[in-house]
Amino acid sequence: MIGPHSENPAQSLLDPINYYSGTLIPDNWDTLEEFFNWFVLEAKMPLMIPWNATIAHGDDFTAISIFKKASYQVEMFLEHPSICIKPHCHPNVETINLHLGGGEQWPSQEDYNMSTRWGTIDWKKPAGLLHGDNPSGERFLGWCMLSFQKWVNNEPIKSVASHWKGTTAGPIHDKLIRDHYPDSFVNNGYADVTMSQIEHEIMVEFNLINK
Ligand SMILES: [Fe+2]
Repeated sequence: MIGPHSENPAQSLLDPINYYSGTLIPDNWDTLEEFFNWFVLEAKMPLMIPWNATIAHGDDFTAISIFKKASYQVEMFLEHPSICIKPHCHPNVETINLHLGGGEQWPSQEDYNMSTRWGTIDWKKPAGLLHGDNPSGERFLGWCMLSFQKWVNNEPIKSVASHWKGTTAGPIHDKLIRDHYPDSFVNNGYADVTMSQIEHEIMVEFNLINK
């Protein structure tokens, strides 16, 4: 039991090696679904924040990685109140979302004081699949979810919100994308990490795209 009588209260009282000693992390997931099942059902959603995880934030979200191994990652997203996610895709990332509730959404009648939204799953979106577009813009008081990801290219740790093609959430989101993909096309509410600024200019010049 951890209590106030510890000899050195300034020292960390939780040793991650001991705390997670019963959690064995596989290295042979073949699919995002396998990884999802291990993390949620076997490991019971451990909070293993990578030491080099950074806060990602855009105009309507805040996120941090809570687990990363090789090309697999879990991010916790705090979706701000009245969010309206614009149409977009993540060109080289497969995703599964697991909603955790909050924001006074669908209160549970059970003992845990949780939302009945907890456990709602958006099943896998293949890399590059267009999604988003919530026309009502009404999302109550925000909510919390986990984003499970398999990156096609095993990139250094970063938010899936930076790996974006489509309409962005606004200027703060634009900056996040630009910070992680400085050569990619980002312009006033639209981004495409598969295209460089120069490629975009050439496409426009030859009338291959409109924007
Ligand atoms: Fe997305």
